[in-house]
Amino acid sequence: MFDNWDDLKKSIENCKKCKLCTNRTNIVFGSGNKNADIMFIGEGPGADEDVQGLPFVGKAGKLMNMAFEGLGIKREDVYITNIVKCRPPQNRVPEANEAEACLNYLRNQVILVKPKIIVLLGSTALKNILGSDLSITASRGKWIEKKGIYYMPTWHPAALLRDENKKIEFWNDLKSVKEKII
Ligand code: URA
Ligand code: SF4
Repeated sequence: MFDNWDDLKKSIENCKKCKLCTNRTNIVFGSGNKNADIMFIGEGPGADEDVQGLPFVGKAGKLMNMAFEGLGIKREDVYITNIVKCRPPQNRVPEANEAEACLNYLRNQVILVKPKIIVLLGSTALKNILGSDLSITASRGKWIEKKGIYYMPTWHPAALLRDENKKIEFWNDLKSVKEKII
Protein backbone atom coordinates (compact mmCIF):
# COMPACT_ATOMS: atom_id res chain seq x y z
CA MET A 1 0.00 0.00 0.00
CA PHE A 2 1.14 3.54 -0.78
CA ASP A 3 0.37 6.61 1.30
CA ASN A 4 0.53 8.94 -1.71
CA TRP A 5 -0.89 9.17 -5.22
CA ASP A 6 2.42 9.55 -7.09
CA ASP A 7 3.91 6.29 -5.86
CA LEU A 8 0.65 4.43 -6.39
CA LYS A 9 0.34 5.71 -9.95
CA LYS A 10 3.95 4.88 -10.77
CA SER A 11 3.55 1.32 -9.54
CA ILE A 12 0.51 0.83 -11.77
CA GLU A 13 2.25 2.33 -14.80
CA ASN A 14 4.90 -0.38 -14.54
CA CYS A 15 2.52 -3.16 -13.53
CA LYS A 16 2.84 -6.59 -15.10
CA LYS A 17 0.86 -8.49 -12.50
CA CYS A 18 -1.61 -9.90 -15.00
CA LYS A 19 -1.76 -10.64 -18.73
CA LEU A 20 -3.83 -7.52 -19.47
CA CYS A 21 -0.54 -5.61 -19.40
CA THR A 22 0.45 -7.10 -22.75
CA ASN A 23 -2.16 -5.30 -24.88
CA ARG A 24 -2.59 -1.99 -23.12
CA THR A 25 -1.82 1.35 -24.78
CA ASN A 26 -2.20 3.22 -21.49
CA ILE A 27 -3.19 2.27 -18.00
CA VAL A 28 -6.44 3.91 -16.91
CA PHE A 29 -5.74 4.95 -13.37
CA GLY A 30 -8.76 7.08 -12.50
CA SER A 31 -9.86 10.69 -12.69
CA GLY A 32 -11.63 13.35 -10.71
CA ASN A 33 -11.49 14.73 -7.19
CA LYS A 34 -8.99 12.83 -5.04
CA ASN A 35 -10.94 13.87 -1.93
CA ALA A 36 -14.38 13.09 -3.35
CA ASP A 37 -17.36 12.12 -1.21
CA ILE A 38 -18.55 9.92 -4.05
CA MET A 39 -16.47 7.36 -5.93
CA PHE A 40 -17.65 5.49 -9.05
CA ILE A 41 -16.21 2.09 -9.91
CA GLY A 42 -16.68 0.60 -13.38
CA GLU A 43 -15.38 -2.60 -14.93
CA GLY A 44 -12.36 -1.83 -17.05
CA PRO A 45 -11.14 0.44 -19.84
CA GLY A 46 -12.64 0.15 -23.31
CA ALA A 47 -10.98 1.18 -26.58
CA ASP A 48 -11.39 4.95 -26.09
CA GLU A 49 -10.24 4.79 -22.47
CA ASP A 50 -7.19 2.71 -23.44
CA VAL A 51 -6.16 5.34 -26.02
CA GLN A 52 -6.79 8.36 -23.79
CA GLY A 53 -5.75 6.84 -20.46
CA LEU A 54 -8.94 8.16 -18.84
CA PRO A 55 -12.01 6.34 -17.50
CA PHE A 56 -15.47 6.57 -19.09
CA VAL A 57 -14.62 8.79 -22.05
CA GLY A 58 -16.34 6.62 -24.71
CA LYS A 59 -20.02 6.04 -25.48
CA ALA A 60 -20.94 4.71 -22.04
CA GLY A 61 -19.10 7.61 -20.40
CA LYS A 62 -20.97 10.15 -22.50
CA LEU A 63 -24.26 8.65 -21.36
CA MET A 64 -23.07 8.83 -17.77
CA ASN A 65 -22.12 12.48 -18.30
CA MET A 66 -25.65 13.23 -19.45
CA ALA A 67 -27.11 11.72 -16.28
CA PHE A 68 -24.57 13.66 -14.20
CA GLU A 69 -25.53 16.91 -15.92
CA GLY A 70 -29.24 16.31 -15.44
CA LEU A 71 -28.76 15.59 -11.74
CA GLY A 72 -26.26 18.37 -11.08
CA ILE A 73 -23.36 16.00 -10.37
CA LYS A 74 -20.05 17.45 -11.55
CA ARG A 75 -17.54 14.97 -12.93
CA GLU A 76 -14.70 16.96 -11.41
CA ASP A 77 -16.29 16.63 -7.95
CA VAL A 78 -16.42 12.82 -7.95
CA TYR A 79 -13.69 10.21 -8.40
CA ILE A 80 -14.04 7.64 -11.18
CA THR A 81 -12.05 4.45 -11.69
CA ASN A 82 -12.37 0.77 -12.62
CA ILE A 83 -11.82 -2.74 -11.28
CA VAL A 84 -8.98 -3.36 -13.76
CA LYS A 85 -6.67 -0.62 -14.98
CA CYS A 86 -5.77 -2.19 -18.34
CA ARG A 87 -8.15 -2.91 -21.21
CA PRO A 88 -9.38 -6.48 -21.55
CA PRO A 89 -9.23 -7.66 -25.20
CA GLN A 90 -12.51 -7.14 -27.10
CA ASN A 91 -13.87 -5.54 -23.91
CA ARG A 92 -14.48 -8.95 -22.37
CA VAL A 93 -15.25 -9.17 -18.66
CA PRO A 94 -12.02 -9.25 -16.62
CA GLU A 95 -11.18 -12.78 -15.46
CA ALA A 96 -11.20 -13.49 -11.73
CA ASN A 97 -7.40 -13.74 -11.65
CA GLU A 98 -7.05 -10.37 -13.42
CA ALA A 99 -9.48 -8.61 -11.10
CA GLU A 100 -7.75 -10.22 -8.11
CA ALA A 101 -4.33 -9.06 -9.33
CA CYS A 102 -5.56 -5.50 -9.75
CA LEU A 103 -7.81 -5.13 -6.72
CA ASN A 104 -5.16 -3.94 -4.29
CA TYR A 105 -4.65 -0.83 -6.41
CA LEU A 106 -8.34 -0.04 -6.12
CA ARG A 107 -8.27 -0.69 -2.37
CA ASN A 108 -5.38 1.74 -2.15
CA GLN A 109 -7.34 4.34 -4.13
CA VAL A 110 -10.32 3.93 -1.78
CA ILE A 111 -8.03 4.44 1.23
CA LEU A 112 -6.59 7.63 -0.30
CA VAL A 113 -9.92 9.11 -1.46
CA LYS A 114 -11.87 8.12 1.69
CA PRO A 115 -15.26 8.36 -0.04
CA LYS A 116 -18.52 8.33 1.91
CA ILE A 117 -20.31 6.63 -0.97
CA ILE A 118 -19.17 4.15 -3.60
CA VAL A 119 -21.32 3.63 -6.69
CA LEU A 120 -20.76 0.19 -8.17
CA LEU A 121 -21.37 0.34 -11.92
CA GLY A 122 -22.53 -3.08 -13.00
CA SER A 123 -22.02 -6.69 -12.13
CA THR A 124 -18.21 -6.82 -12.31
CA ALA A 125 -17.80 -3.97 -9.83
CA LEU A 126 -20.49 -5.37 -7.54
CA LYS A 127 -19.15 -8.93 -7.48
CA ASN A 128 -15.53 -7.98 -6.97
CA ILE A 129 -16.21 -5.45 -4.23
CA LEU A 130 -19.12 -6.88 -2.26
CA GLY A 131 -19.17 -10.58 -3.13
CA SER A 132 -19.37 -12.90 -6.09
CA ASP A 133 -22.73 -14.26 -4.90
CA LEU A 134 -24.50 -10.95 -5.47
CA SER A 135 -26.54 -10.24 -8.59
CA ILE A 136 -26.79 -6.73 -10.01
CA THR A 137 -30.46 -7.25 -10.90
CA ALA A 138 -31.35 -8.03 -7.29
CA SER A 139 -28.93 -5.57 -5.67
CA ARG A 140 -29.28 -2.42 -7.71
CA GLY A 141 -30.93 0.56 -6.13
CA LYS A 142 -30.40 -0.67 -2.57
CA TRP A 143 -27.90 0.85 -0.17
CA ILE A 144 -25.41 -1.51 1.44
CA GLU A 145 -23.32 -0.20 4.34
CA LYS A 146 -19.96 -1.82 5.01
CA LYS A 147 -17.21 -0.51 7.29
CA GLY A 148 -18.62 3.01 7.26
CA ILE A 149 -18.91 3.26 3.46
CA TYR A 150 -22.30 3.32 1.75
CA TYR A 151 -22.44 1.33 -1.48
CA MET A 152 -25.00 1.86 -4.23
CA PRO A 153 -24.97 -0.85 -6.89
CA THR A 154 -26.50 0.23 -10.19
CA TRP A 155 -26.43 -0.64 -13.89
CA HIS A 156 -23.26 -0.22 -15.85
CA PRO A 157 -23.88 2.70 -18.25
CA ALA A 158 -23.10 0.42 -21.22
CA ALA A 159 -26.15 -1.64 -20.22
CA LEU A 160 -28.30 1.45 -20.76
CA LEU A 161 -27.17 1.55 -24.37
CA ARG A 162 -28.57 -1.94 -24.85
CA ASP A 163 -31.77 -1.55 -22.82
CA GLU A 164 -33.64 1.77 -22.70
CA ASN A 165 -35.72 0.63 -19.70
CA LYS A 166 -32.66 0.64 -17.49
CA LYS A 167 -32.13 4.38 -17.95
CA ILE A 168 -34.82 5.42 -15.49
CA GLU A 169 -33.50 3.00 -12.85
CA PHE A 170 -29.95 4.27 -13.34
CA TRP A 171 -31.23 7.83 -13.02
CA ASN A 172 -33.16 7.01 -9.84
CA ASP A 173 -30.15 5.27 -8.30
CA LEU A 174 -27.91 8.28 -8.97
CA LYS A 175 -30.64 10.57 -7.65
CA SER A 176 -30.65 8.68 -4.41
CA VAL A 177 -26.84 9.03 -4.27
CA LYS A 178 -27.11 12.78 -4.81
CA GLU A 179 -29.78 13.10 -2.14
CA LYS A 180 -27.74 11.20 0.41
CA ILE A 181 -24.83 13.63 0.13
CA ILE A 182 -26.87 16.85 0.62
N1 URA B 1 -16.56 0.82 -19.18
C1 URA B 1 -15.99 0.70 -17.97
O1 URA B 1 -16.32 -0.16 -17.19
N2 URA B 1 -15.05 1.57 -17.65
C2 URA B 1 -14.64 2.55 -18.44
O2 URA B 1 -13.76 3.30 -18.04
C3 URA B 1 -15.26 2.65 -19.70
C4 URA B 1 -16.21 1.79 -20.05
FE1 SF4 C 1 -1.51 -4.66 -13.44
FE2 SF4 C 1 -4.10 -4.24 -13.14
FE3 SF4 C 1 -2.99 -3.85 -15.50
FE4 SF4 C 1 -3.26 -6.32 -14.58
S1 SF4 C 1 -4.92 -4.90 -15.12
S2 SF4 C 1 -1.42 -5.47 -15.52
S3 SF4 C 1 -2.95 -6.01 -12.39
S4 SF4 C 1 -2.56 -2.69 -13.65
